[in-house]
Amino acid sequence: MPAYKIIDHTYDVVVVGAGGAGLRATMGMGQAGFRTACITKVFPTRSHTVAAQGGIGAALGNMADDNWKWHMYDTVKGSDWLGDQDAIEYMCREAVPAVHELEHFGVPFSRTPEGKIYQRPFGGHMSNYGEKPVQRACAAADRTGHAILHTLYQQCLKHSCQFFVEYFALDLIMDEDGSCRGVMAWNLDDGTLHRFRAHKVVLATGGYGRAYFSCTSAHTCTGDGHGLVARAGLPLQDMEFVQFHPTGIYGSGCLITEGARGEGGYLTNSAGERFMERYAPTAKDLASRDVVSRAMTVEIREGRGVGKENDHIFLHLEHLGAETLDLRLPGISETAKIFAGVDVTREPIPVLPTVHYNMGGIPTNIHGEVLRPTETDPDATVPGLMAIGEAACVSVHGANRLGTNSLLDIVVFGRAAAVHTAETLKPSSAHKSLPKGAGDQAVARFDRLRNANGSLTTSEIRLAMQKTMQNDAAVFRTAKTLAEGVDKMNEVAASLSQIKTHDRSTVWNSDLVEALELENLMDCAQATIVSAEARHESRGAHAHEDYPERDDTTWLKHTLAWVENGKVQLDYRPVHTYTLTDEVEYIKPQKRVY
Ligand code: FUM
Repeated sequence: MPAYKIIDHTYDVVVVGAGGAGLRATMGMGQAGFRTACITKVFPTRSHTVAAQGGIGAALGNMADDNWKWHMYDTVKGSDWLGDQDAIEYMCREAVPAVHELEHFGVPFSRTPEGKIYQRPFGGHMSNYGEKPVQRACAAADRTGHAILHTLYQQCLKHSCQFFVEYFALDLIMDEDGSCRGVMAWNLDDGTLHRFRAHKVVLATGGYGRAYFSCTSAHTCTGDGHGLVARAGLPLQDMEFVQFHPTGIYGSGCLITEGARGEGGYLTNSAGERFMERYAPTAKDLASRDVVSRAMTVEIREGRGVGKENDHIFLHLEHLGAETLDLRLPGISETAKIFAGVDVTREPIPVLPTVHYNMGGIPTNIHGEVLRPTETDPDATVPGLMAIGEAACVSVHGANRLGTNSLLDIVVFGRAAAVHTAETLKPSSAHKSLPKGAGDQAVARFDRLRNANGSLTTSEIRLAMQKTMQNDAAVFRTAKTLAEGVDKMNEVAASLSQIKTHDRSTVWNSDLVEALELENLMDCAQATIVSAEARHESRGAHAHEDYPERDDTTWLKHTLAWVENGKVQLDYRPVHTYTLTDEVEYIKPQKRVY
């Protein structure tokens, strides 16, 4: 291996990722006086948060009576009781000040005629413990993520945080005592390698939607933080729970916000029937996402899909009228035109359930500290390492996330990570010297992939992985498809040893970044399918046809998956069946109907 020159940096805190979670944490760390660096593989305002559309959930009660305790109840129910109720209490209680804080930072929310933040209904959000839909999604038209991301980036600049843009994180620097001491990164612009030393590394790298063939996620959603953690010998949690959003555009997978149904849109089958009335008599089209995605899939399977091949569903917005569409849903009107050739004022949008969100991820507590569960302490933490946002599993979403709770999660826990750091660390504290050989493992990995000259291209291996996930870890799963999926995925993972990134016919090795991403995705894909095969029940987004009922006696527990050299080991840790304060009581598992 050639001797690579390494450029050293020292900070109090290094945040990896510049989506909403990363920026909220970066800003909070800067505000607390920490020397803070944010390293990001894309320019901050291109992070995937920019694509979030419909709103951020908070019981402001601007449109009708609302209460954070109802929000908590809905979130627990939406999670199918897999969510940790102490964490859910924290998130829903903090939602109201978090949204007001965003408003003060400058987020241009849509307004009611009286000038309050406009709120729309969203799936699974109900008033009075499940009675009827409530308007809880605080919206900036249908570009809420865009508005939040730009505002947070400006706040980071105000607090003099330093950005390393187009830097790709390679591996964590772990000490012998099990603590995290920094992170290695590769500058995509000039090819240099960098060693970042920090008291805290905060992973805010988003989800891994790109493990699937069709998803609403950006091409950058490649589970990079998950890969860093897996290679550091730490587990991933609840990876079997993958959310399918009911309304991805048929063919392209682009997101059509649930806010479209919040504004009065509805789904129909080939008979023109509003079929959700049969599956969710109270909430109808605004039932939670797993319920709507399954109903659509059943309609298609039973021959009531629309289109030439009866393989999708129609979403109607025509009746809302051009004025409302222009005011409330301008972004998706444009998206439908570009990606489906549909004028939403005149015709329905062809839609299909599409992979959208990962409920599972890096296990953390409510402060964002990463967990290394042991037999005696399922909540033991890793010093120096934090994770937030979609990369993390706190767990506030359990087996199924409610729409609008992801924008909420990123700002609440991005802030929590900064608050906790300010309570436990002094700015500019002295650093211990780094362990011997710090970063060597990352450099060796980089060098191996840089020169990989096997027989399979990165895109061939990636496609095999994506097809396997799409077919065998889908909306509905069976013992047979999952067992076949595990075998196929083991083969695909083994084929990584045959990867070819080094094409000597060109000057550029443009495949290298995709190969590094693919290794991260592969860890996620394997953890997902192996965890899914092992869970013999149906809960939230994990709909197992051979085990159609939820089984709280055996399966009210979080899955832990360690991925090492293409092999997955599983274990479990208890769900927190307690609340954070006495102000609310533990919500006991009930049958989940909408
Ligand atoms: O449908 C949407 O606008 C997506 C929101 C979310 O995933 O929270």
